[in-house]
Amino acid sequence: DFVLDTKKVGAPIQSTMYGLFFEDINFAADGGLYAELVKNRSFDFPQNLMGWNTFGKVEVRKDNPLFDQNPTYVVLSDPGHPHKRTGIENEGFRGMGFKQNEAYRFSVWAKTVNSNEPQKIRIDLLDEKNDILVTQQLVINAGDWKKYEISLTPKATEAKGRLRIFLDSKGSVALEHVSLFPVNTWKGRENGLRADLAQALSDIKPGVFRFPGGCIVEGTDLDTRYDWKKTIGAVENRPVNENRWHYTFPHRFFPDYYQSYGLGFYEYFLLSEDMGAEPLPVLSCGLACQYQNEKEECHVPVKDLGSYIQDALDLIEFANGSPTSTWGKVRAEMGHPAPFNLKYIGIGNEQWGDEYVVRLEPFVKAIRAKYPDIKIIGSSGPSADGDKFEYLWPEMKRLKVDLVDEHYYKDPKWFLNSAKRYDNYDRKGPAVFAGEYACHVPNRDNNFESALYEAAFMTGLERNADIVHMCTYAPLLAHVDAWQWKPDMIWFDNLSSVKTPNYYVQQLYAQNKGTNVMPLTRNNTSISGEDDLYASAVYDKDENCYIVKVANTGTDSKDIKINVEGLKKQATLSLGECFELKANDLKIVNSLQTPTNIIPQKTTAKLEGNTLQIIAKAQSFSLYKIQL
Ligand code: AHR
Repeated sequence: DFVLDTKKVGAPIQSTMYGLFFEDINFAADGGLYAELVKNRSFDFPQNLMGWNTFGKVEVRKDNPLFDQNPTYVVLSDPGHPHKRTGIENEGFRGMGFKQNEAYRFSVWAKTVNSNEPQKIRIDLLDEKNDILVTQQLVINAGDWKKYEISLTPKATEAKGRLRIFLDSKGSVALEHVSLFPVNTWKGRENGLRADLAQALSDIKPGVFRFPGGCIVEGTDLDTRYDWKKTIGAVENRPVNENRWHYTFPHRFFPDYYQSYGLGFYEYFLLSEDMGAEPLPVLSCGLACQYQNEKEECHVPVKDLGSYIQDALDLIEFANGSPTSTWGKVRAEMGHPAPFNLKYIGIGNEQWGDEYVVRLEPFVKAIRAKYPDIKIIGSSGPSADGDKFEYLWPEMKRLKVDLVDEHYYKDPKWFLNSAKRYDNYDRKGPAVFAGEYACHVPNRDNNFESALYEAAFMTGLERNADIVHMCTYAPLLAHVDAWQWKPDMIWFDNLSSVKTPNYYVQQLYAQNKGTNVMPLTRNNTSISGEDDLYASAVYDKDENCYIVKVANTGTDSKDIKINVEGLKKQATLSLGECFELKANDLKIVNSLQTPTNIIPQKTTAKLEGNTLQIIAKAQSFSLYKIQL
């Protein structure tokens, strides 16, 4: 029997306990969550016409630029023969997804060139076979740069569409920042997010939202690190950056992977706010991605860290400062005069060794001096699992950071053995942020097996919520035609998305996190592996209920009695909602074609007096609410 001792209400569970980690990997931002359909919209990839096909007379120019950070534009001119055409065609991010009868907002900055005569361009949305789904003419009627906008509604749905722009008159036009967005973005924002993906994130009910990475925080080298100041202000003037995931793995080489920064820090803060999650930005500590650290040019000397530290201080002002402060003003001008109420900041991602510690130290000093209430998150290297990186913990304690970001991409055995990982952790040091984790089965599928073992492991996070204050699965999003890393929580193509079993585990935890840890024991010990059972319990004071989570990783189903002890005499219990996540085969996955192979199903249990009787089916994860 299990015992849930109601007299021992445990530590509060932080509102941040279950959250999301977002990184622009696997085309998660451009080509994914960020709803822009045009790749290289400003022609400022280093190969200026990458993503574009051109025909006729097209010239790439940078003279007298409209946007100094994105100076390149194209000029389309009459090819000089009645049977020839001039135009450009954009391939999108592995195609463009169009939905029948939905409106798309096409916009472009344009001007006539060499004459004030109005010029016409024709805009087509095409399907994969080159048939026109919708076409419309646009008149460019000024010799000065102006933004033009039209709405296009395709007559059919297409996953691999393209955008084509023809010159439809005899002169020349210049085009800059060519953009195409669905009108129906999440929350209807112009520079918005893809509705299905943002909704899927929000549906988790995340308590914290970490951004923008991962390795992209650091960059392949210092020049390509994520520099938040370049990601705010007018989208047209946010400079393009090479993505860290451009060429990390030779077998998955993505020469066209750049960051437009259209999804930048302002948008990340907004998304956090919309989802009700605490924003958690992570900034570069002056070290490029750790795999490059042996190179001198990837380290900023400690004495030169000033501008990096200033970036951190300025970010706090951007998020929280009054609209009259330098950076608060920028936020206000972007449309958000109210502060974003930032409480956490991460410095460095997966950095290891002394080179990190000596750099983190001046950040901590400066942030503490100016913003003593901001909680600082340090890092313990890629895998604090008894390997050489664990030695960073004492350093994190010495620096008195508030939380330490631990990452574990590990095999099933590790996940099951580590359900006790935090049971004996030092309670006096920093709290734990399990900032990136996923169970890696041999082929790294998002199969039910990986999700079940994560669920089992997470009972240990929950039981130790006094010390574990945040956890976020990683990575979050992946395009089926352009991924660099798996497993990932949500997969998508240009039209639809699929939630993995791992997503549902996260969702079940996040939506049932409760407010306090409760002791759940068998023979006075926690339930973390004996007999293939893993379990944890919480109390939810808002809903006045207990929630018990049970993972059975064994091949036999188990009848379990859970005795709810120590209740007041007059208390009567009733059974609330119960869910089960289960598959007939551990190898089963959800796919775009079969997205509901594994989804939480309602289940039930028997409640007799103060005893809950459950059947923990073989290889299942289940959750029971006991209402007071
Ligand atoms: O999540 C993928 C990568 O794994 C992250 O960018 C990095 O922090 C870790 O190595």
